[in-house]
Amino acid sequence: MSHASLFSPLQVGPYRLQHRVVMAPLTRMRAERVSFAPRDLNAEYYGQRATAGGLIIAEASPVAATGRGNPATPGIYSDQQVEGWRKVVDAVHARGGFIFLQLWHVGRVSHSSLQPDGALPVAPSAVPITGEDLLAMTAHGKPEPYETPRALETHEIAEVIDAFRIAARNAVAAGFDGVEIHGANGYLLEQFLQSHSNLRTDRYGGSIANRARLLLEIVDAAVGVCGAERVGVRLSPYGVANGSGEPDPMPLYSHVIRALDERGLAWLHFIEPRSSGAGRAEVNHQNVPSAMKLFRPLWRGVLISAGGFDAASAEAAVAAGHADAIAFGRYFISNPDLPARIRHGIPFTPYQRATFYGGGAAGYTDYPFHDEGQRP
Ligand SMILES: Cc1cc2nc3c(=O)[nH]c(=O)nc-3n(C[C@H](O)[C@H](O)[C@H](O)COP(=O)(O)O)c2cc1C
Repeated sequence: MSHASLFSPLQVGPYRLQHRVVMAPLTRMRAERVSFAPRDLNAEYYGQRATAGGLIIAEASPVAATGRGNPATPGIYSDQQVEGWRKVVDAVHARGGFIFLQLWHVGRVSHSSLQPDGALPVAPSAVPITGEDLLAMTAHGKPEPYETPRALETHEIAEVIDAFRIAARNAVAAGFDGVEIHGANGYLLEQFLQSHSNLRTDRYGGSIANRARLLLEIVDAAVGVCGAERVGVRLSPYGVANGSGEPDPMPLYSHVIRALDERGLAWLHFIEPRSSGAGRAEVNHQNVPSAMKLFRPLWRGVLISAGGFDAASAEAAVAAGHADAIAFGRYFISNPDLPARIRHGIPFTPYQRATFYGGGAAGYTDYPFHDEGQRP
């Protein structure tokens, strides 16, 4: 797949992308605050960022109330949420774009104030996130130390898988073109994958094959709903977000990626470790491995990479065949017309971190288009 360019077409499952500048999943915490349903403002935001034949991966969306870790993140587990998402999907499809939904369970990256009945967050094991500057978001807005989560009983794991299956069904009902399973950034599925957060002694813990079991069973559940060609997976090997970090990632992630590869999925999507934790602070780690370069030999399908790219490095990665498409996060926040800016060499508008999470239109739908005539 080398000698491609960011603006050459790419087949992704049944979809023909017209370019390879993908919008990364971005939590913005602007859904309706009680129902957690997307609203008109969210449809406007996604519609602005849609392009003919472009791919958007919509923000991480909890598959169950217990999967929530933030206020005002949109869910995908109620009829009202499905209705809200339909408006978003319609706005993207109206401009000829494709949109997948990222399915999310935060596991221990939560707080009892955000959980049904004030219960403790659930996790593979009763191991809290620790570490300086790592604090839980709370319903009342003031960050607090993480609580010790409750370990899921083995029989409850089937319920988690079911929640993902139903969420995939809901996503299809809302009109999404497919789903991405969030296996990255220290959330539930990564907590199961990694040895420091998974101390289980049942078939979901211990060996690498056991730790990978939940992710693979969830992928298979989503494949059963959507078909493999409409299911992507996001991973962050070597990442350190939300208290994650596997001591020796290579054997674990080699196993996972080989098992995913056999399934013929729509894509594998990496977050490069250099920008791990990009959501909370500006970081650009130096001298860290490149996930796309390390793992590309194990993956035959479409590979998307994200993390710290600019126009030149994105073009270089695709031209070299390290990745087939590049997902942009922060610059897609501040540049609704990012693909056009990259194509024509137009400078990017800088992003404002203060308005990443929560609030209204400011820092959300009011970033400029280089040609205001293009604003939908
Ligand atoms: C405000 C914000 C919200 C994010 N939300 C998500 C999310 O919901 N799901 C996810 O997988 N990654 C999330 N990320 C990570 C981005 O998808 C992306 O991997 C990261 O920002 C690195 O890409 P960039 O350097 O182009 O910004 C978020 C990042 C930011 C800045």
